Amino acid sequence: MDQTQAPYLDAVIEYVRRDPSRLHVPGHKGIASDPALVEAIGMAALEHDISAGLKGIDLGPAPTPFQQSQDLAADAWGAARSWFLLHGGSQGNHVGCLALGHIGKEVIVQRNVHSSTVDGMIMAGLIPTFVQPEIDPDLGIAHCVTPGNLETALSENPQAVGVMIVSPTYFGAVADISALAAVAHAAGVPLLVDEAWGAHLYFSSRLPEGALACGADLVLSSTHKIVGSLGQSAILHRGHDSLIGDDLINRCLTMLETTSPSSLLSVSLDGARRFAALEGERLLGEVLDAVDDARARIRVIPELDVLDERLLEAPSVHGWDGVRLAVDVRGTGASGHRVADLMRELSDVNVELYTETIVEAMFGMGSDAERDADRLVASLEAALGALDEADRERRRRFASPPPWGALRMTPREAFLGPQESVSFAKAEGRIAAESLAAYPPGVPNVLPGEELTQETIQYVTDTLSAGGQVRGAGDQTLETVRVVANP
Ligand SMILES: Cc1ncc(COP(=O)(O)O)c(C=O)c1O
Repeated sequence: MDQTQAPYLDAVIEYVRRDPSRLHVPGHKGIASDPALVEAIGMAALEHDISAGLKGIDLGPAPTPFQQSQDLAADAWGAARSWFLLHGGSQGNHVGCLALGHIGKEVIVQRNVHSSTVDGMIMAGLIPTFVQPEIDPDLGIAHCVTPGNLETALSENPQAVGVMIVSPTYFGAVADISALAAVAHAAGVPLLVDEAWGAHLYFSSRLPEGALACGADLVLSSTHKIVGSLGQSAILHRGHDSLIGDDLINRCLTMLETTSPSSLLSVSLDGARRFAALEGERLLGEVLDAVDDARARIRVIPELDVLDERLLEAPSVHGWDGVRLAVDVRGTGASGHRVADLMRELSDVNVELYTETIVEAMFGMGSDAERDADRLVASLEAALGALDEADRERRRRFASPPPWGALRMTPREAFLGPQESVSFAKAEGRIAAESLAAYPPGVPNVLPGEELTQETIQYVTDTLSAGGQVRGAGDQTLETVRVVANP
């Protein structure tokens, strides 16, 4: 297909150029808004924020410009079909879960899936069996799921109707998707890949292959993360020969979508796709060069290291995405949280993610990566210079989490059914109605529907008292926890 075209973007530009009478939503009509807002986002953003459902743009004879743009996206990513998502990558995970929910009930799920997948399972009423990703005990981070572990999970759960995994990880570890797809397909079930962090893999020959090229059935791209569409826009792709049909995806997606989709998000997807298809190889090459150079400069700073090709030594890691810059701060003795705080306070350098051991900077396709890298390196040096003795003794040792408790009811039943708050310390044997994930490594310790074990209660309590974080809990102090009410 002709990737120089951007049919939806062009149709919206043409509509604005014609200066038509806009007797439809949105009510600002491209002219009326708060002056500070106009100054912040520009009049052009208001003008191009138009209604969906206009003839010749998203309605009228097929293929409409909107459909053509989705077809071009499918072509660019190598998908059989693509759908623009205007509710973030999260919506893609919700759709994937609902699609599997239509097919059946039991699914195999990587334990540290994004919270949107857990939410999707709640919506769909799925019964999960979890597979543990490989955990790096030194860095306290999770890598990928191995094909061997997936094979075991599928053979132990022959009723499973699908598999949901995450690749790449936040840190750029890419799973062996071809092997995982082969294992899933041998069991007759689809492989859904949350490739939220890998939308760019398709546009550079220097990056690992994307999941769509490796036989995945449904793939989620959070295009806003690295490819550069507007925040909250994403794309869901169906692979060639997918075991999940278009109609099912259409039905699930319609259920989860606003009836007033934002034209700004869709034009940004159309434009970002064209930019990536035409310029991605060059732009990502520039980012890779700048990030490689920054990695080399950080490696020689005493006390710092970086995550790099060495990740490939981990059995579950098949490829590595060099666009990520994860700085290993263990040598400082301080936590990544403290280093990131100092980078922000001293240099106004704000990073995407930090853990006990890592500070991760995110670069974007087409951004000024050299400048970003220079500021990052300088801010790391400034932060290191400002660490005091107490900071350097603050980092906690990583203890491996205990096994999660047995699933006593579906996440949906636990989350939506009658609940009560009880003392966390005394909650052993109760069924959780909320999630708890201690960081590091961020793999959920408890999910709705699971029995709370004494080991897990102790582990989470120890993490909190050592200054760690536990995400998901309604009561952040964890004096209480929400559990399923006793009959
Ligand atoms: C692995 C993964 N999947 C899905 C999402 C959700 O994407 P979005 O924030 O676009 O809704 C995220 C967000 O960070 C993520 O890390």
